[in-house]
Amino acid sequence: MADFEPQLTKRFNVKDGHTLKGYLATGGYESLKKLFTMKPTEVIEEVKASNLKGRGGAGFPTGMKWSFVPQNTGKPIYLAVNADEGEPGTFTDRYMLFNDPHLLLEGIICACFAINSHTAYIYVRGEFYEQIQRLNAAIDEAKKANYLGKNIQGSGFDLEIYVHRGAGAYICGEETGLLESLEGKPGKPRIKPPFPAVVGLFGCPTIINNVKTLCSVPWIIANGAKAYAALGTQESPGTHVFGLSGHVNQTGYWEMPFGMPFMDFLNNYGKGVKGGKLKAVIPGGSSCPVLTAQECEDLTLSYESMKAHGTMFGTGCGIIMNEHTDMAKVLKNLTHFYSHESCGQCTPCREGTAWEDRLLKKILNGEATAKELDLMLEVADNMEGKTICVLSSALAMPVRSFLKKFRGDFEKYLVKNTVAVPEKVQ
Ligand SMILES: Cc1cc2nc3c(=O)[nH]c(=O)nc-3n(C[C@H](O)[C@H](O)[C@H](O)COP(=O)(O)O)c2cc1C
Repeated sequence: MADFEPQLTKRFNVKDGHTLKGYLATGGYESLKKLFTMKPTEVIEEVKASNLKGRGGAGFPTGMKWSFVPQNTGKPIYLAVNADEGEPGTFTDRYMLFNDPHLLLEGIICACFAINSHTAYIYVRGEFYEQIQRLNAAIDEAKKANYLGKNIQGSGFDLEIYVHRGAGAYICGEETGLLESLEGKPGKPRIKPPFPAVVGLFGCPTIINNVKTLCSVPWIIANGAKAYAALGTQESPGTHVFGLSGHVNQTGYWEMPFGMPFMDFLNNYGKGVKGGKLKAVIPGGSSCPVLTAQECEDLTLSYESMKAHGTMFGTGCGIIMNEHTDMAKVLKNLTHFYSHESCGQCTPCREGTAWEDRLLKKILNGEATAKELDLMLEVADNMEGKTICVLSSALAMPVRSFLKKFRGDFEKYLVKNTVAVPEKVQ
């Protein structure tokens, strides 16, 4: 891997890097000097040129999203930061918040300046207690030093940031569920269009961005889009904090440019598969199609390679499974999770996720035939793309890929194949 300067994790091992003093001593808030010499539209163009893609899971180009905000409505414009991090197997935003809260504040200042917003909300998973304390402390420090508040550093630009604690519902990470929750309502996603950039929080134009998306912006402003695009690959520029969990000898997260071969990442950073050979990988959180060991051989850590392999980059946190993994039981975990977390407003999701869970329970209890396997696929077909948000698809995709690629793991439980059912699944 070519040498690179960490952008997102450079203060993770710096003593007091989370304080304003530590932040300023390590180049913090430097991008603002350049930011305030630019026009907001120039900032948007720079981020567009960097080809930064949203790190929350969907990978939508950030600069383009910002350009959708109408500037002529007479209404306030909001930024909502998605710090909910509820995706299974995903665990890097919480370290960003804990180790470098000022970097997020600097990213928020850049984004708000670009879209002409003077109020930002950070929607944080309620369980992130220590992160919330550090965020609030960072906001206090930044206010006192005039990095927030009125006329930031004499620029004429005003900004207030508020931290809002969520209550731990996965659906509140979905961007419009998040907005509903911020407004004090149950987190039920909204029908789009209108998109939040036009009608968002309190009916006003709103941008929702993930923590790492915003943390990537100060480096782009300070160093330019060209330097950013020179890292990684053409379609996946820059760096990311990639994670590994499951059957690896070394779980964790590492920042690096996009493009590393996945097996090098697994073997050199994850120190290889624990307890046996590689069987399967869910590459980006749990909401994407699973890959077989063979498919991982020529996979790289990039949006385009994941897509070419029929899956998604998602959050960039891979879940590793060894050869002894029972894929039927893994999928049962997922059906349980998604059925529990469905907000219930769309029938295909409310009924479909619960139906998949019941079918899998029947299969695992040795009470099903091949008919139930086919029914699982049929239910998945009726769940994907037929609901207000993609929670339903986020289960349908794993269901289809698990059954296609690891059907034997399910068939062994079918009535005619079952010798003995070890324990009943609830
Ligand atoms: C059910 C569900 C949960 C989600 N949870 C999160 C989350 O916890 N954090 C996040 O950044 N994005 C999450 N997303 C994606 C957001 O809807 C949205 O795409 C993202 O916040 C946009 O920011 P970005 O463009 O910077 O990636 C979730 C999506 C869905 C459908």
